[in-house]
Amino acid sequence: MKPYEHPEPLYPYADWSLGEDTYDDLNNQRSESLFATGNGYIGMRGNFEEGFHGSEGTSVTGNYLNGFYDSEPIVYPEGAYGYPSRNQAMLNVTNAQIIQLRVEGEQFHLNRGRVLSYKRELDMKMGYLLREVDWESPAGHQVRIRIRRLVPLAHKHLAAVDYEVTALNFEGTVTLSSAMDGRIAQQEATDDPRLGAGSALPSLIMESMEHSEKFAIMKQRTRHTQFALVTAMSHGLSSNAGHEVAVTGKKEEERLTVEYAVPLLKGDSTSLTKYISYHTSKDYPEAELFERTEQVLGMAAATGFEALLQEQTAFLGEFWRHADVEINGDPALQQGIRFNAFQLLQSVGRDGLTNIGAKGLTGEGYEGHYFWDTEMYMLPFFTYTQPQISRSLLEFRYSTLDKARERAAVMSQKGALYPWRTIDGEENSSYFPAGTAQAHINADIAYGIKQYVLATGDTEFLVSKGAEILFETSRFWVDLGHFNPAKGGAFCIDAVTGPDEYTAIVNNNAYTNLMVQDQLNYAYQTAELLRSEYPDQFKQLCSRINLTDEEMKVWLEAANKMFVPYDEELDIYAQDDTFLSKQKWDFENTPADKYPLLLHFHPLVIYRHQVLKQADLVLAMFLLGDKFTLEEKVRNYNYYEPLTTHDSSLSPCIHSIVSAEIGELENAYSYFDRTVRMDLDDINKNAKDGLHTAAMAGSWMSIVNGFGGMRLIDGMLVFNPVLPKQWESYRFKIVNQGALLEILVDGEGVQYTLLEGESITIKHKDRSLTLAWNEPVRA
Ligand code: BGC
Repeated sequence: MKPYEHPEPLYPYADWSLGEDTYDDLNNQRSESLFATGNGYIGMRGNFEEGFHGSEGTSVTGNYLNGFYDSEPIVYPEGAYGYPSRNQAMLNVTNAQIIQLRVEGEQFHLNRGRVLSYKRELDMKMGYLLREVDWESPAGHQVRIRIRRLVPLAHKHLAAVDYEVTALNFEGTVTLSSAMDGRIAQQEATDDPRLGAGSALPSLIMESMEHSEKFAIMKQRTRHTQFALVTAMSHGLSSNAGHEVAVTGKKEEERLTVEYAVPLLKGDSTSLTKYISYHTSKDYPEAELFERTEQVLGMAAATGFEALLQEQTAFLGEFWRHADVEINGDPALQQGIRFNAFQLLQSVGRDGLTNIGAKGLTGEGYEGHYFWDTEMYMLPFFTYTQPQISRSLLEFRYSTLDKARERAAVMSQKGALYPWRTIDGEENSSYFPAGTAQAHINADIAYGIKQYVLATGDTEFLVSKGAEILFETSRFWVDLGHFNPAKGGAFCIDAVTGPDEYTAIVNNNAYTNLMVQDQLNYAYQTAELLRSEYPDQFKQLCSRINLTDEEMKVWLEAANKMFVPYDEELDIYAQDDTFLSKQKWDFENTPADKYPLLLHFHPLVIYRHQVLKQADLVLAMFLLGDKFTLEEKVRNYNYYEPLTTHDSSLSPCIHSIVSAEIGELENAYSYFDRTVRMDLDDINKNAKDGLHTAAMAGSWMSIVNGFGGMRLIDGMLVFNPVLPKQWESYRFKIVNQGALLEILVDGEGVQYTLLEGESITIKHKDRSLTLAWNEPVRA
């Protein structure tokens, strides 16, 4: 691999923000994803309040509510038993971002009149989006516009926009027309399977809309799921002009507008603060929605925009205190890692009933579905920085366990099988070779539970919820696999797909089998723990799910006899039973424009070759590192790395971690660069459809587990840090069992500081270190 050079930045580097001082019609849709704001429930793409008027480029107006979806029947030309019959798609909901400005009757937008100056900035410390424009209307009237958008992390149902206009060179009337538009269509279908099916029909059906004294409110209903959605907006206007302001309300087809005509003298300003709320009957009884709306909007008006902004800054201050990563001497990567952490927080559901989608709340790619991405990529970031969020994410799995049980039954298996992709817990994958066949999701969830419990000590979660998930999914494995006489009685798992989606429906995918082995051992240990320490809960659980001691013994037996394919000649693990006997992909004669392969070759063509979309065995070597010697890691890595296309954004971060571990620091750095700025540099050319949340979280792992070399071994944190030569130093924080630890790696070595907690014992390489509060230790 040749050393990696940062591409020319698409947006200037900045430590705590993403900004631009010119705007770019052509790449507008990409910027809409990058400048998204959200609070884990509401997500708003970075659309302009006045709409997009560019003559080139495209726009997707996007407002999303985590977990809010419609569900259309899936039409299969050739269906089969057990295919999901309905598809869920995160809905693009009522657009309440709209504020249109007229200056003495002249409509403002960026492609009219003259833009004298322009600036947009997503501030990651204060958590808001700012736009400042000096604009001259075609008639020569100049205004200064300052728009601040805030989706408060502390108020799930609220968003706010503060829109200020100053008359620079004239005396006259500015009109601010604030609206919400209920007529929303989903993005159209394309040939790109990563986008989704699209839909021709409007997803939300209007039931009522009205202007009341305090606010404008709309009630709509989803076409199929029949959820009610109540969207409302209220306004406050302040102006230093003493003149009468004329206010009018308009009601058009599916649009409510409130218009303020404000007379200004030269130098005067006026600002309109708009509060927006969303509530749905998916979260609350329908009868409560209006009252709740009133409460939220009342609270917002009483608090005021500036105080909400202060609250937001305080919220983020707490977040960064635990989650910040500093990279000194590399502004590109510094910006990338903060942007990623910030966007993850903006997209993650924190209520135990929602999760985090593959594109978060920033776009419609993958239809807002939750995947294994959560447990394998996002969860570690949250577990070690914001453990309560990890718990909520795992609670989501618990809340959907019944659906996983139903799915296992449909698949003629015992126990529970989690869906490959879902919003409310039902399987949504209509292409089973790269969907339902990825049963490894069960083991991934089990792994997530194990890591969470070990890192936090939250046994209460394990006892009350985690154990049941572990037991039911273990049941599934033992029923799915079999002790195979043809392999000397070893436990085999057939007809599954591993993480690498360029190889499908195989026997004994090594990643899957290793992960299942780990899960079965952990499930057995958990049963033993409950039996001895929590006997009442254990008895109740066993009787509720009819679990017997015999079944648990089989878990252990299957784990002990797990078949893991190995090729003696090459002295490496085989990805599965047949992978190594296929012909290798002809990389030399595949031009760059044929990637990602999935958009240029039929799946069967890909399946017939040794070619990987993403880390598979290499991922297992990271997750289950103690099962491989260093030499094995080197041999396996050297075999699989050249065959890996990284056509999935989930891949480079894992290669970065394993490269760091085997001492290939240059490669580790290149892969890290590619993952940490995946969206800022638009590496995969589809940031326009939404951000790559797994890659963003993966970049955190690349720092912490890759360069920082952190592993959790026998419940203890072990670090083995290295410093890439491109950096002066880096620093990250880890929350472990309630303690907050800071790790600084610089030219002189490593410094460990316990920032919160009385003491903690960790390992630096082979050496045990006991740290006391606030007493840095150098190693
Ligand atoms: C990857 C999957 C991933 C999905 C959603 C696909 O391209 O191959 O592993 O779960 O994207 O991020």
